[in-house]
Amino acid sequence: MLCCQGYPFVDGGETAFQVDAARVVYGSGALREVGPAAKELGMTRVALFSDERVARLEPVALALASLRSAGIDTTLYDRSKVEPTDASFREAAAFARDGRFDGYVSVGGGSTIDTAKAANLYATYPDDFAAYVNAPAGAGKPVPGPLRPHIACPTTSGTGSEVTGIAIFDYLEIHAKTGIASRRLRPDLAVVDPECTRTLPRTVVACSGFDVLSHALESYTALPYVRRARPASPAQRPMSQGANPFSDLACVEALRILGAYVVRAVSDPDDGEARERMMYAATLAGIGFGNAGVQVPHAMAYAVAGLARAYHAPEYPGHEPLVPHGMAVIVNTPSVVRFTAETSPERHLRAAELLGADVRDATPGEAGDVLGERLEALMRATAMPNGLGDVGFAERDVPALREGTLPQQRLLANAPRATGADALDALFAAALRYW
Ligand SMILES: [Fe+2]
Repeated sequence: MLCCQGYPFVDGGETAFQVDAARVVYGSGALREVGPAAKELGMTRVALFSDERVARLEPVALALASLRSAGIDTTLYDRSKVEPTDASFREAAAFARDGRFDGYVSVGGGSTIDTAKAANLYATYPDDFAAYVNAPAGAGKPVPGPLRPHIACPTTSGTGSEVTGIAIFDYLEIHAKTGIASRRLRPDLAVVDPECTRTLPRTVVACSGFDVLSHALESYTALPYVRRARPASPAQRPMSQGANPFSDLACVEALRILGAYVVRAVSDPDDGEARERMMYAATLAGIGFGNAGVQVPHAMAYAVAGLARAYHAPEYPGHEPLVPHGMAVIVNTPSVVRFTAETSPERHLRAAELLGADVRDATPGEAGDVLGERLEALMRATAMPNGLGDVGFAERDVPALREGTLPQQRLLANAPRATGADALDALFAAALRYW
C-alpha cells in the first residue's frame, strides 16, 4: 500500500495516524445536563472551576444548579486567571489537592478549562511543577495514568480547549508561554451550550473567531502526518501528529462555517444563528487541531502576546498591554500562508474557497496570495488590526519576536516547511502591515 486516504507514504515516514475523538454534548440548553453527566461519570464531590467574572454569570449558575440537583457536593473555585501562569496553576492545584475532589467541572474560557486540567493533574499525581511541563521549559514527563473525570463547558467560541489535551500558561520563572500536553489531559466530556456566546462583546467574538479560523487552517495545512518520522513506539506518536484524514474532516467544515458566518457573528450580537454556528465551528476546529496540531502562526503568536507593550484591545477588561490570543495569531496568518502555500497549493486554494474566495481562475502559484488576501478581507470586515504595526510593533522589534518564537519547537516542527530564524525574520517583517 502506497498511500492512505490521499496521503502518499514516504521512506521512513509515519504510516499510521491516531484518532482521539472527543465526547461532546452540543446544543442550546446543554448546560442543564452537567449534573446528570457528572453523576454518570461517578462524580460525588466536584470542584467547579471558573473565573471571577464568569462566576457571576448565568452559565455557572446553570451548571451549579444542575450539579446540586443531581445530589453532587460542589465547591466553586473562581480564582482561575485569564492568561494563567505557573503561579495560578499551583494555587489551583493546592485547592484541588486540599479539597479531595473526585471530579472536576470547568465553566469559562480556555484559561479556566486549562486551569482545571492542571489542577486535576497535580492533585492526582503530585510532582515538581516542572515535571509535566513541555520540554525544554520543563521535563516533559508523561502523565502516569488516568486523571479524575473532567467535564469542560466553554463560554467563548474560541480555544477548543474543551476537546484538547493541552493546557497553556505563562511560565513566569522563564518568561515564556508554554504548556502541558498529554492525551490524558483531554476532558472526558465537553458540554457546549451556544447560548453562552449571546452576551460576548464584538471584539471578543472577533478574536476568538479568528483563533478558531487559524486552528482549522494551520491544522489543514500542517506537515502531513506521513512526512513525520515514524516513532520508535506508538506511545511516542505526538499529539501534534500533522495533517491527517480525520483532522481534515473537522477542519474543512470549520473553515466553511467560518467563511459563511464570522463577519455576521462579529457585526451583529443579535444574530443568534451566526453566533451559534461559530460555537460549533470552535468545537470542530478544536477536534481538528487536537488531532493534528497548530504550527507557525500560533508559535509566532506567543511572542507577539508576550512582547506587547503598547496596545490594549478594546472591550477587554483592565488597562495593561494586551493583544488577545486570537488577535496575536491572526496578525501572522496571512504572512505565513504566503510562505507555506508552495508546499500544498491545492490545500491553500481549497481553504481560500471555503472561506469565501473566488478561486476559479487561480493558478497554484497564486495560492498563497489568494488565501492571504481572503484572510485580509475578513480581518478588514471585522475591524481587526492591520498587521503587527497596528498592535504596536515595528521593524526594530523583529529580532525580539523571532527569539521569542524559536523556543516553540513543538509548533514549528509541525510546519510544512522548515521554519528557522531567517524564515521567521521574513515572516514577521511581512506581517507588519497588510493593506
Ligand atoms: Fe489558539
